[in-house]
Amino acid sequence: MQVIKYMFQPHGDDRGQLVALEEFKDIPFKIKRVYYMYDTTEGVVRGHHAHKSLEQILICIHGSCKIRLDNGSEKKVVPLEKPYEGLYVANDMWREMFDFSSDAVLMVLASELYDESDYIRDYDEFLEYVNSKSEE
Ligand code: TYD
Repeated sequence: MQVIKYMFQPHGDDRGQLVALEEFKDIPFKIKRVYYMYDTTEGVVRGHHAHKSLEQILICIHGSCKIRLDNGSEKKVVPLEKPYEGLYVANDMWREMFDFSSDAVLMVLASELYDESDYIRDYDEFLEYVNSKSEE
């Protein structure tokens, strides 16, 4: 499984750091939605779903967390610890977010608007879905 992590360019000077993200330049898709998680309860695991048709970039803009990616045959854990790194997550990928630091803010840039019908929230259904696609 290929993990795609973007390292964004911080514009730093003696005032501090600034990261700018533009669609189709720093981000490989049109950004239709932005959401973020914060005040995440200690020990909590979020996500537990895949998308049929959605691209996302996950950026832990403050604090740290870990992302578990699972394509149905392989799993990888990716730590997000810097505000200038972004994890690309394509469709057909089961994801879980965990190990949030108490100060973590996990921001997600998404290629589509929120659409509950695009979610696969059952793991067995996810496995069936990816296995049936790989047989095509
Ligand atoms: P949920 O899918 O449970 O979050 P996670 O996958 O991170 O555990 O979403 C939590 C709530 O927020 C749920 O009621 C749906 C809502 N929501 C939106 O309204 N818009 C969005 O873009 C997202 C991601 C969630």
